[in-house]
Amino acid sequence: MTEKPLTMDTIVSLCKRRGVIFPGSEIYGGLGGTFDYGPIGAELKKNVKAAWWRAMIYERDDMEGIDAAILMNRQTWVASGHVQNFSDPLVDCKQCKKRFRADNMGRFRILFVKDGQTNDPDIEINAETWEEAVERAEKKHKHAFNEFFKGGAERILRPAPPKSCPECGAKDSLTAPRQFNLMFRTFVGPVEEEAAEVFLRPETAQGIFVNFQNVATTMRRKLPFGIAQIGKSFRNEITPRNFIFRTREFEQMEVEFFCKPGAKCQPGERSDEQWHEYWLAERFNWYSRYGIRKENLRLRPHDPNELAHYAKACSDVEYKFPIGWQELEGIANRTDFDLAQHQKVSGKDQTYFDPDLKEKYIPYVIEPSAGVDRSSLAFLCDAYHSEMVEGRERVVLRLHHALAPIKVAVMPLLRNRPEIVEMAAKLTLDCKRKFYAVYDDTGSIGKLYRRQDEIGTPYCVTVDVDSLSDGKVTVRERDTMAQDRIVVDSLVAYLQDHLKIE
Ligand code: GAP
Repeated sequence: MTEKPLTMDTIVSLCKRRGVIFPGSEIYGGLGGTFDYGPIGAELKKNVKAAWWRAMIYERDDMEGIDAAILMNRQTWVASGHVQNFSDPLVDCKQCKKRFRADNMGRFRILFVKDGQTNDPDIEINAETWEEAVERAEKKHKHAFNEFFKGGAERILRPAPPKSCPECGAKDSLTAPRQFNLMFRTFVGPVEEEAAEVFLRPETAQGIFVNFQNVATTMRRKLPFGIAQIGKSFRNEITPRNFIFRTREFEQMEVEFFCKPGAKCQPGERSDEQWHEYWLAERFNWYSRYGIRKENLRLRPHDPNELAHYAKACSDVEYKFPIGWQELEGIANRTDFDLAQHQKVSGKDQTYFDPDLKEKYIPYVIEPSAGVDRSSLAFLCDAYHSEMVEGRERVVLRLHHALAPIKVAVMPLLRNRPEIVEMAAKLTLDCKRKFYAVYDDTGSIGKLYRRQDEIGTPYCVTVDVDSLSDGKVTVRERDTMAQDRIVVDSLVAYLQDHLKIE
């Protein structure tokens, strides 16, 4: 058996063909950065969320789950810094009117800053990312870097858009970069005025912070404990791309884990930094528990100049997507930034009374923040296998059983034999009581196997002529294609025994 290298196009086409994911509003020509999950995709996504909820809530005793509103009081986003800081630098082409993210155009300018004064040594670098730009610039302009650092200067980077438009090629047609806020704006009530302005939440995290006191009090929680939430978030991304990797509407699975700041810890208690380390390992292991191969996962600590305004430290769990290593999940130490900000802006006490120290303080927060869509994409990519079997290509999704959209497909070998069809339909019903099973008679058995392999169904059950006399059916396993003859009465027990759905 041989394997072909995977491309994103292959995944996109499988998803379209098999009812996993469709372009959003397709009959109207689509809407950029939106996708609709079909029957198979909706099931996959639901299973990813259930696996996360199980690991974060049901299997722990230091976590509570909530489901906060998407629309929040505007002040939430003032306090969190999103109104002021949640923006990308944008450039427009005056000729073709296209917009680009200035920090995504492969060209950067290095500036040096000392005592508030900016010095521009005219160093421009072509690179894919800011880190790559710094690395290249440091190598290429060693002398200039040494000179500036000797004088106590700090280096900063600024996107430097190219001279001509990458879309239409027009020369000198690009505007200077300007900041564009990524939050979607709307209005509560009938009057479009400033007072009624609200935003679609760009992260689920703030719904947790504003409920910290509610949850701590009603659930009688002591530090350390976490609050978890799954829900939709919205960002007006300038360049949504790579299928469901970066979209304008997506789902997040976020934990805010409240703990003692290091300085308040007693001997034997984990500090915020130790909890950060702990969560890095927990979250890395969650992806491999649900089937992602370890060689396709890595942890990448952020450079200090990459850190978000609220974070003291952050590492990403990255997955080796067909487009290269990319962030799956960010795990940040947000310190007391958010609760302190909400206390300041709302005027409501956000402190925690520590019964051991007999003092009040604002807890620190470790935030593992994952994307449902991005992890679903990683699970799909990692499960995808194309192999040659007896001279023909077989595509199979080796999804973890817990994530597989359909657990069992029951098929009659002959559609024109009512006894066989009846037996298959009854077995499907028996299975449905325990797990998601479907009846399928829409093609030849070869075609049906092919379809179920492509959507990752772990077991196919075939009812044939012999089943009528020997009371046995054929059970075919997805990964090995091994077949077993099983007595009908013990079929459900057999499948329950073999399905690893936890
Ligand atoms: N509360 C912190 C936060 O939102 P983030 O790194 O901006 O941090 C966390 O987002 C995760 O949400 C990302 O790792 C990714 O999985 C997912 N995510 C963010 N923006 C996304 C987008 N435009 N499309 C799909 N998923 C996205």
